[in-house]
Parts: sequence; structure tokens; C-alpha cells
Amino acid sequence: MLLPILATAAVAAFATVATALPTSANHVVHEKRSGSSSWSPMQGVKPDGRITLPVRIGLTESNLHRGDDILMEVSDPASDKYGKHLAAEEVMRYPSPAHTADLTLEQIVELFAPQPKTIDVVRNWLVSSGIESSRISLSRGRNWLNVNASIAEAEALLKTEYKIYEHSTGQKHIACEEYSVPQEIQEHIDLIMPTIHFDTKIVGDPERRKLKRTFNPGDSNNNGFLPKKGPTILGPGADPDLAPLPFALTTCNSQITPDCLRALYNFTNGTLAKSSYAVVEYTPQAYLQSDLNLFYSNLARQIPAGTAPTFDSIDGGVDQTTTQSFDDNGESDLDLQYAIALVYPQTVTLYQTGDTVEGASFNNFLDALDSSYYTSDATYPDPNSGGYKKQDCGRYTATSVISTSYGSNEADLSAAYEVRQCNEYMKLGMAGTTILYSSGDNGVAGNGAECCTKAKCAGGTYNSGKTGTFNPSFPGTCPYVTSVGATQIVSGASVTAPEEACETVIYSGGGFSNVFAMPSYQSSAVKSYFTNHKPSYTATQYNNSETVRGYPDVSANGANYAVAVDGSISLVYGTSASSPTFGSVITLINEQRVNAGKSAVGFINPTLYANPSILNDITSGGNQGCGTAGFTAVSGWDPVTGLGTPNYGKMLPVFMALP
Ligand SMILES: *[C@@H]1O[C@H](CO)[C@@H](O)[C@H](O)[C@H]1NC(C)=O
Ligand SMILES: *[C@@H]1O[C@H](CO)[C@@H](O)[C@H](O)[C@H]1NC(C)=O
Ligand SMILES: *[C@@H]1O[C@H](CO)[C@@H](O)[C@H](O)[C@H]1NC(C)=O
Ligand SMILES: *[C@@H]1O[C@H](CO)[C@@H](O)[C@H](O)[C@H]1NC(C)=O
Repeated sequence: MLLPILATAAVAAFATVATALPTSANHVVHEKRSGSSSWSPMQGVKPDGRITLPVRIGLTESNLHRGDDILMEVSDPASDKYGKHLAAEEVMRYPSPAHTADLTLEQIVELFAPQPKTIDVVRNWLVSSGIESSRISLSRGRNWLNVNASIAEAEALLKTEYKIYEHSTGQKHIACEEYSVPQEIQEHIDLIMPTIHFDTKIVGDPERRKLKRTFNPGDSNNNGFLPKKGPTILGPGADPDLAPLPFALTTCNSQITPDCLRALYNFTNGTLAKSSYAVVEYTPQAYLQSDLNLFYSNLARQIPAGTAPTFDSIDGGVDQTTTQSFDDNGESDLDLQYAIALVYPQTVTLYQTGDTVEGASFNNFLDALDSSYYTSDATYPDPNSGGYKKQDCGRYTATSVISTSYGSNEADLSAAYEVRQCNEYMKLGMAGTTILYSSGDNGVAGNGAECCTKAKCAGGTYNSGKTGTFNPSFPGTCPYVTSVGATQIVSGASVTAPEEACETVIYSGGGFSNVFAMPSYQSSAVKSYFTNHKPSYTATQYNNSETVRGYPDVSANGANYAVAVDGSISLVYGTSASSPTFGSVITLINEQRVNAGKSAVGFINPTLYANPSILNDITSGGNQGCGTAGFTAVSGWDPVTGLGTPNYGKMLPVFMALP
């Protein structure tokens, strides 16, 4: 055992009311909205006080610092516990004496469950505020207290006022500007929803159809992460002014193909099919099998027509074909075509998340992998007509590598919300999963190229223009994920020449967090960046304290991908392409490790930062945005391309030499 497991008195604790009630409701503001240009309160309209809100109180979890220690212990290449992941899927699939799990998933739940006192104190506050205990329930992971409360009750409890907010797209949502809790119990509460977060929806309201959840990563209206389309080069709609080029290694500077990526990143076709790899898609984003087939027949001829991902539906996720356009199919077609082609014959899993009515959030996805996480977003069961009537908590075991090409801005959600979600990535890392997120396509600006007004984006408000303070993306800034930026082949250069930061159509997301502290694995790389290449910007542009998380960690090509979308082959741009490519390289390394009786690599950042020479350092180009040239790619780590692009031939021996 790595750790003694805490005694579990929590079920009993829930049933007893032993702690003194906080009598004086000495409320203090617990969370306050940072402001967003795209959502504004409707003037003169107040929601009916009888509407029911699914109030969820996120209780402060225990032992999070120990979680960080355990993650580093199994991920630090210098640790003799490297690769001894807890309850890793590979452990279950390919049992080997070399990597037995130290903790079961149940034990991980126990480790982080709130202290019994925390559950008592918060529950007693609810009861003393007039909510009968029969209405209060505790989640399976004992980390959320749930109660259905009317808006009037919630307003009294949280000393707040709910309003109807309208999005620029016409969507409506119930939220508040800030909320308060009694000072005596504040330390026991992480966050309460639905409040200031634009990520939840209400239940039981006759008008609910108009009050949809807010940030759906799959919605092309509010996702600046979806890839951008360039010219169509083959098939219906092909640009007649473009002479068709052969798909060859000599044309990689104008068309990226799977063969180009193998040449760029020094790897060959997979052979073993012994690992597991997933991409995540958010409905209504969907792939078309006919597009996959078109791609195989032109660009991956070893793959038979009909080869499909393993379809894991989360919360009603369907491969919808009702609406078809680049905005519906571009992301999924891109991610799947490249992931499948690069790791074939390894099968790729598709975590298709959210029904066609509501979509889903990152939390719905995380719930499906860990029933103890249990957020929050109350999207499912979906009461709407045609909506998914269940909630998929703990339905799937995480694959060894998971790539997501969707994201939001740190400033869109509260710090408490992001920290809680980030800690869930920490738990997945403990269990042996590599989590990759694309870093965003707007350089130092956020989705929609938006920037902020104040030095601290997370505490300020958005600027209506495209200038101001840099706007970092989330989850890329979570220190427990690997954030992937974008590069391109230099114009006219060969596939063997060094690449530069992507400056075609999109700019690699990168910069410094306003929420997360700098993780130790990164500190010497970032320190050396500031020592040798200190940017000229001030605290007006970004948090220049040199104590916060810098991103991305790594990068991979993100320009000119030849992708089959809606029956033609077009060129596509984005860190959306970079993330599945990087994930494919890690998957091929996992195959070799698993074949040698070792674990999957799990959380890779500590190994990459300790061995920067296994990546191709990118030293030119920048990530402009917010009316500036952004940061510049330099030798060593930089906030444009991270440590650089993968070099499989150099990465493999390093990872194979680890326990
Ligand atoms: C709240 O109401 C929903 C819908 O009726 C129900 O499914 C859920 O169990 C209720 N939650 C609690 C904590 O009572
Ligand atoms: C991978 O397979 C494809 C299709 O069979 C082939 O064209 C390509 O040359 C192979 N690449 C390598 C590096 O083996
Ligand atoms: C930068 O981050 C540090 C560490 O979180 C924090 O103390 C400081 O207030 C931040 N600076 C600004 C200008 O927001
Ligand atoms: C590719 O990988 C091999 C090891 O397989 C290594 O010797 C070689 O230097 C790498 N090529 C480049 C261009 O880095």
C-alpha cells in the first residue's frame, strides 16, 4: 500500500447530527462572477421564485495535497514507484506482477472523501435554515450535498438574487452575480451550484425549454476551439483554382497527411494493438462513416472501409446525422481520422458525450468515468422532449490516453469550479490515464479572440474589443493535463526541416494561468524561460509573477491537415489536430510498454520536462492576440509551443527504460 486509508465513518456521520449549528448567519461572499461579454442579465425580468433549482453543494475534499504527492510518485521518472498506477485500466486488462495496483478505485474515493465533520456542518446549516433533512441527499462519493430548492429558498439561503441571463445566441440561463455562506462553515464548502457558473441548468420549470445549459463544448456558436476550414482540395466543391497535389512526403508543406506526421515525428505504423486510446466529442459534433471511408481510401489505404471507433455513448451521446456541415462534422472527422490512422490496428474509442437536446459539459464526461466525482451540472436526466432520461455515472473505465480538442476560457467559470474539475484529472492521472487537451486557436486571446480588461482575467470583465489582457484557456492550464499547442512546416520547407509555431489561420494557445500555481515539474523550464527570454509585457497583459502555471506543455502540427468532411477532402487548421496527433504518439509508446509487461505511461509531464531533448524544440514563430504579437517561441520551453513536438524515436527508449 502506498498510503494508509482513512477510516470511513462517513455514512454514520451523515445520519447523526452531532455538531453545533452555526446560529448567527454571519454570511460572507463565497464566489463572485467574473463577468462575460456574451451573457448579460435581462433587465426587468425576474425568474418565478417557485422554480426548482437542483442545488448542489460541493464539500471540501480531503487529502488533495496527498493526491498530488501520489500522482508525482507514480509519474516522476526518478521515482521507483513510476508506473505503479492506482487501479489502472492496463492493470486490469493485462495483469502482470510488475504493476499491481496499490489502491482500488474505491480506495481512491475514500482518500478524497470530505471529513465527516464537513458533511455534518454543512448539512446542519441547511436544516437550521429550514430545509427538512429528508430533502437532503449525499452523493455516492460523499462530496456533494444535494437538495431541490425553490429559487426563493435558495435566495434566502445564499443571500443572493437569481436573474435570467441571455446569451448573444439567444440562449437563456438562470444564474446570480455572487452568493454568500456563513463564515463559520465557509472552509467546508468548495462551491455551490447553480449560482454564478454558466455551466448548469434548472429542473422542473415550465419554461425550461428556453433555459438551456450554457457552455456546451460541442456548440459551434460558443466554441472557439473547433477547427477552421481551409480550401477543399478533392471531391465535390474542390477549389477549381487549386491544382490537385499528390499526397506525398514532398507536399507536406501544403497538405498534412498521416504519412507526413510519421515523417515529422519519427514514428512508424502501429502493429501491436495492445493499448487503449480515446477521443472525446461533444454532441452535436459527429463523425460520418462515409467520411472515414473516404479518408482511408485516399490517405490510409491499409485501413479497410467500415473501420469505426468503439462507440461509448455518454449521457445520450449519439452520432447524429440530422445536421451535416463542417461545423457539425469537422471536429469529429478530423480527430477520428488522424487518431485511427496513426494508431491502426489499435482501435480508437469515441466518448460521444451529451444528447442532441442539451449537449454536455466536461463534468458530464468526467462523471461517466468516475461515479464518485458526481457533479453537478444537472443536465441529466434531461426532462426535455427527446432528452436522455438517465445519467451515466461511472459507466466507463478510462482508456490509457484521452485526447480532447475542446476548451473554454479560465475566465468563463469560477476558480473553485476549475480547481475541482482539475483535481479530477489528477485522480485520472493516478489511475494511469494520459489526459491531453488542445491549447486553443487564438494565441494569447481566448475563444472568439476575446481578451479581458483587468490584469487578472479571472477577476475582471471581458473587453468588448479584441485587445486587453491575455485570456488563458481551460482545461489547458490545469497542471494535471498535458496541453498541446500547434506548429506548422515552414513555408516551402521539407518535412525534415525544423517546424515553427503555427501562424496559418490559427495561432497556438499559450500563456500563463490566473488560477493555477506553477507545478514543480515545470518550474526549472519556466524559470529558464524568464531568465533567458523575459517577455516585455507587464502585469497588465498577464500574470508575470513567475509563480503560475505556464501552458502549453508540448505541441504538434496544426496546419493544412487533409481531412475528409461531408464527402470532400479539405484542409483543416487548429490545435484540434495537434492533440489527437500527440495522443497517437503516446499510444504507440504505451503499446510497446504494455507489450513488455509494463504499465501505460499515465501522466507524462514530469517525464517530458525531465527529458526535454526527446522533443523537437521549436524556436521560431509566435502566438499573437489581444492586439499584441503574443509570446515568441524560443529555445527551451516557451508559452507558444511548450517543450516542442514529439520525436517518437527519441521518446520510446526513455519511456521503455522506466519501470
Ligand atoms: C430533485 O428532483 C429531481 C427531479 O424530480 C429528482 O430526480 C432528484 O432525485 C431530486 N433530488 C433530490 C436531492 O431530492
Ligand atoms: C504505414 O502504412 C501506410 C499504408 O499501408 C503506408 O503507405 C506507409 O508507408 C506506412 N508507413 C510506415 C512508416 O511504415
Ligand atoms: C499572479 O498569481 C499570483 C499567484 O497566484 C498571485 O498571488 C498574484 O496576485 C497574481 N497577480 C495578479 C496581477 O493577478
Ligand atoms: C529518430 O529516431 C531514431 C531512433 O529510433 C533516432 O536515432 C534518430 O535520431 C531520430 N531522428 C531524428 C531526426 O531525430
